[in-house]
Amino acid sequence: MSSQAVRLVVLVSGSGTNLQALLDAVADDTYGARVVAVGADREGIEGLARAERAGLPTFVERVADHPDRQAWDVALAGRIAGHRPDLVVCAGFMKILGAPTLRAFPVLNTHPALLPSFPGAHGVRDALAYGVRLTGCTVMLADEGVDTGPIIAQQAVPVLDGDDEAGLHERIKTVERHLLVDTVGRMAREGWTVTGRTVRFGRAGE
Ligand code: GRF
Repeated sequence: MSSQAVRLVVLVSGSGTNLQALLDAVADDTYGARVVAVGADREGIEGLARAERAGLPTFVERVADHPDRQAWDVALAGRIAGHRPDLVVCAGFMKILGAPTLRAFPVLNTHPALLPSFPGAHGVRDALAYGVRLTGCTVMLADEGVDTGPIIAQQAVPVLDGDDEAGLHERIKTVERHLLVDTVGRMAREGWTVTGRTVRFGRAGE
């Protein structure tokens, strides 16, 4: 593994299939990034178990263990900083990050809908309820809003007759994992620039 590889801290709240896709990708030396730690906002999730099986350091910061959200934000940022990431990846992390993390590191997020439609915790359910025929997934830079950061990559997924939330989410996640792996790899290898809301791969001046 190259010592030049971009250092990723990945944050999870659930089953961690997006994390697993990243773990599989970083096994290839040419990918350009490596996962240095995995953090979570809750114990006992498969995402943490995946990290442990991969032999990675893990940490948990629960909001309930802090007097308020700001204190949690500061504690979480400290845990992340301890692993000196170049990039933080929220891979199904179900908390909005605060300024202490967002000001310290670039943060990537993934969402199972085509933003700006259907932000928030129920993007798949909301898209189905609205009756759209096309939904998908979005990889974006995180900001302090709910799924409002500059968009990096999107891919569409058709809604099929008879889809329910679980089935549609699984089909979206199949696409989402590829999009996340592809986007993180390109950011690691090529760098990126942000101009207003526009994100481009490549380093400034290239
Ligand atoms: C993903 O669809 C993510 O966008 C959403 O929750 C899902 C997480 O899946 N917020 P997993 O934990 O990576 O399997």
